[in-house]
Amino acid sequence: VTAAGGAYPVFVGAGLGPLARAVASAHSSRVALVTDAAVWRFHGERIARSLAAFGPAVIRIPRGERGKTADTVRRIYRGLLGAGCDRESLVVAAGGGVVGDLAGFAAATFYRGVPWVAVPTTLLAQVDAAIGGKTGYDLPEGKNLVGAFHPPRAVVADAAFLATLPTREVRAALAEVIKAGMVADARLLEAVDRSAPRLVAGDARALRPIVDSAARIKAEIVSTDERETGLRRKLNFGHTVGHALEAATGYAKFLHGEAVAAGMVVETALGVELGITPAAVLVRLRALLARVGLTDNLDKFRLHAVADRIHYDKKRSGDDIRLILPDAWGSVTECRVPRYGLVRYLMRADAVTLWKEGV
Ligand SMILES: NC(=O)c1ccc[n+]([C@@H]2O[C@H](COP(=O)([O-])OP(=O)(O)OC[C@H]3O[C@@H](n4cnc5c(N)ncnc54)[C@H](O)[C@@H]3O)[C@@H](O)[C@H]2O)c1
Ligand SMILES: [Zn+2]
Repeated sequence: VTAAGGAYPVFVGAGLGPLARAVASAHSSRVALVTDAAVWRFHGERIARSLAAFGPAVIRIPRGERGKTADTVRRIYRGLLGAGCDRESLVVAAGGGVVGDLAGFAAATFYRGVPWVAVPTTLLAQVDAAIGGKTGYDLPEGKNLVGAFHPPRAVVADAAFLATLPTREVRAALAEVIKAGMVADARLLEAVDRSAPRLVAGDARALRPIVDSAARIKAEIVSTDERETGLRRKLNFGHTVGHALEAATGYAKFLHGEAVAAGMVVETALGVELGITPAAVLVRLRALLARVGLTDNLDKFRLHAVADRIHYDKKRSGDDIRLILPDAWGSVTECRVPRYGLVRYLMRADAVTLWKEGV
């Protein structure tokens, strides 16, 4: 990936060898490993072994989206101080998108910035969150409202981590894979469709090429537009409504990917209504999400509860929201939609109908 501060490599499915090499080449005074309880339980021993030469301090944080707060960031700062870290130290973030976003943000701000290495352990983090240098945390008002761009030195996405992921996490991550396909690659959508049951079952051989393609799409897009001035915004497809849904439900009801799946359907339906999206795209998208089992949760929320969260969206620009809407299968376009128009649409649309059949 090319970034303003220098290019960094992304290793997919190459074991943990690249991790030790990346850490060694940073020549740090101290190495701190930030991780969460689940990752530590399943994979701690192997990660610790690969870092043994550096005698890392281990900082454990609570798991899940509800812990993606300023409190947890403070906890990481204190852990870094307690471990004797200074400006020459290195943070290794081993975990899902939550650990990566939090530890990456702590690295961006501790002593005004120390380097870090991302070791994404979830499918979602391997195909999306760990690539691109966005870090941050949530406020009760909205998702990721505080953050910094701070690209890692390297991303080490080892396939072996994925073997212990719960099925629900795998499914949710496939929403981001489908998003990548909707944004840039119809072939990826076909590949997901073809191997859907094996992907959901966590079959490593089926996952490998999918992780590869989705990670490559993300890497290519963020390399051309690191600071999100144009092209990178396309990756926000499904996220305007998705983030609002997460905030409206207290980050407790839906996994990020599940909310994005819902967001993609709602935004696509709006695209159809605005005459930008062909109706067939909505039908195909719904069918594909159903194939990977992402349509079951959807009658559990009311769109009008989501509506007032739209005001906190970062893609707001004055009274408009920049929405990413499909204009063909495997292609999206950016549209400015009046914020109140979107809110009115959400007040009137019915999630269940949207989901099952209608526009
Ligand atoms: N920075 C970005 O560009 C970007 C992009 C997309 C998403 N995100 C963020 O990523 C977050 C979602 O990431 P996530 O889905 O990885 O969530 P997560 O970090 O909460 O991980 C999901 C769950 O899986 C557990 N887990 C992690 N690795 C495991 C493993 N190998 N085996 C078993 N369990 C494991 C975790 O403990 C957690 O309970 C959201 O906060 C989202 O905003 C960031
Ligand atoms: Zn996302």
